[in-house]
Amino acid sequence: MSESSVSAAETPPVPHPLDEAAVEQAVTAALEAFEAADDLEQLKAARLAHTGDRAPIVLANRQIKDLEKDQKKQAGKLLGAARGRIQKALAARTEVLEAEHAERMLAEETVDVTAAPRRRSLGARHPISRLQEKVSDVFTAMGWEIAEGPELESEWFNFDALNFDPDHPAREMQDTFFVEPAEAHLVLRTHTSPVQIRSLLTRKLPVYVLAPGKVFRTDELDATHTPVFHQFEGLAVDKGLTMADLKGTLEHFARAMFGPEAAIRLRPSFFPFTEPSAEMDVWHPHAKGGPQWVEWGGCGMVHPNVLAAAGIKDPEYTGFAFGMGVERTLMFRNEVPDMRDMIEGDIRFSAQFGMEV
Ligand code: DAH
Repeated sequence: MSESSVSAAETPPVPHPLDEAAVEQAVTAALEAFEAADDLEQLKAARLAHTGDRAPIVLANRQIKDLEKDQKKQAGKLLGAARGRIQKALAARTEVLEAEHAERMLAEETVDVTAAPRRRSLGARHPISRLQEKVSDVFTAMGWEIAEGPELESEWFNFDALNFDPDHPAREMQDTFFVEPAEAHLVLRTHTSPVQIRSLLTRKLPVYVLAPGKVFRTDELDATHTPVFHQFEGLAVDKGLTMADLKGTLEHFARAMFGPEAAIRLRPSFFPFTEPSAEMDVWHPHAKGGPQWVEWGGCGMVHPNVLAAAGIKDPEYTGFAFGMGVERTLMFRNEVPDMRDMIEGDIRFSAQFGMEV
């Protein structure tokens, strides 16, 4: 007796199978334990304690077999009723806690089908690259080829072969980055026009090429200037080409870039490598301040000295050429007021253009 009372805290006393008060106490303890369980985990512990192999009422039940025959019946009735009440209470509490559990899971696992999905931003190609590709597409669609030349160019290709006089101020006018040592006569190309000479020297006539690329000038960076920018150069050399071919080509180009209402206008000008030379304006039907003429680039008929520098002696061959700035085109075509936005590399600038310029 004293032994069982010492360990009473851990192991509840086993009632004698005929002791009604003790059995009632065991039932009460079980019902209280079930009621105190706050979740299914706690209820499982209470269930094992009060209905498992070591539960007082179960152990008491096992003692029935040792009783006198007439007492067995009485004890069986008493313990049967007790176990019935315990099972009933357990079932009721289980039902309550399972319902609570189901409700909690529903609330916790709710999916908001109207919530915006989380997207990973994919970046975007730079509009300068895309505009160059768009221009290239217009010309390749007419059967022209894309030509390239080096950014570190020899002075001869950049100036001499293009009919710049050795001491012509144009050399200085183009604000050239000369590259040391001086005797190597290398420059960072100031324009894409040297690709004209390279194309004529390496290709068979007739030649129809478009050369997009990077060019360099010693300009300070501001809203309308940058020391590194891009141009596209066009060159056609074929038998009997005239100014009319130049104008027709540029008009087609302008419409491809600015829509069917676009037009072009040529104003007399001077470039050493063309004669006659012209400044080209485009009628921009969707300009920000309303339809208007916008200066777009330079053009002209290829100077005979340029053809001669490229080894073309047959007088039947004539050519036309043109050149424009890509950044400048993007500025007035796509309403970019500050050139610095194009070179800073902020993804938000590129992203505004989406997939198409
Ligand atoms: N290379 C000239 C520049 O950078 C642009 C130019 C003008 C290119 C007339 C041409 C042309 O092909 O015919 O200012």
